Amino acid sequence: MTRVLVLQGPNLDLLGTRQPQLYGTETLVEIHASLEEHAGRLGLEIAFFQSNHEGALIDRLHERDFDAVVVNAAAYTHTSVALRDAFLAIAVPFIEVHLTDPWQREPFRQVNFLHDLALETVAGLGSRGYHVALESLAARFGEGDV
Ligand code: DQA
Repeated sequence: MTRVLVLQGPNLDLLGTRQPQLYGTETLVEIHASLEEHAGRLGLEIAFFQSNHEGALIDRLHERDFDAVVVNAAAYTHTSVALRDAFLAIAVPFIEVHLTDPWQREPFRQVNFLHDLALETVAGLGSRGYHVALESLAARFGEGDV
């Protein structure tokens, strides 16, 4: 069974109350619950990790106990060479997700250290983007009904 890690970066623990006009009203716990259910239907094994700390995200990647990653690196997308290097080091395929579309926002959000390494980037679909990413991974690697 394909093992997927959903890696969530800084401030995503505050989803639900954080700028709901941008990021929606669903909490991270609710999003993860619905992803867990979806992963089950897709025949994927799923695990979740959120941190506000760059090094903790990198340490989690180094565990390498998964076959693919769905990552919303949040602000680290735009700043972290270290996170980029971690993905290069572990050489595990990943899909990048953003709730909003960073390319339609401030210029500093258009710098992206992960985009060219990702299998795909799903941006601007809200929490549905995570589901799109799971379906894509299931189609690429998994079994089950997509
Ligand atoms: C985000 C977009 C980033 O620019 C921002 O720093 C976030 C969330 C998104 O999901 O839309 O924290 O990754």
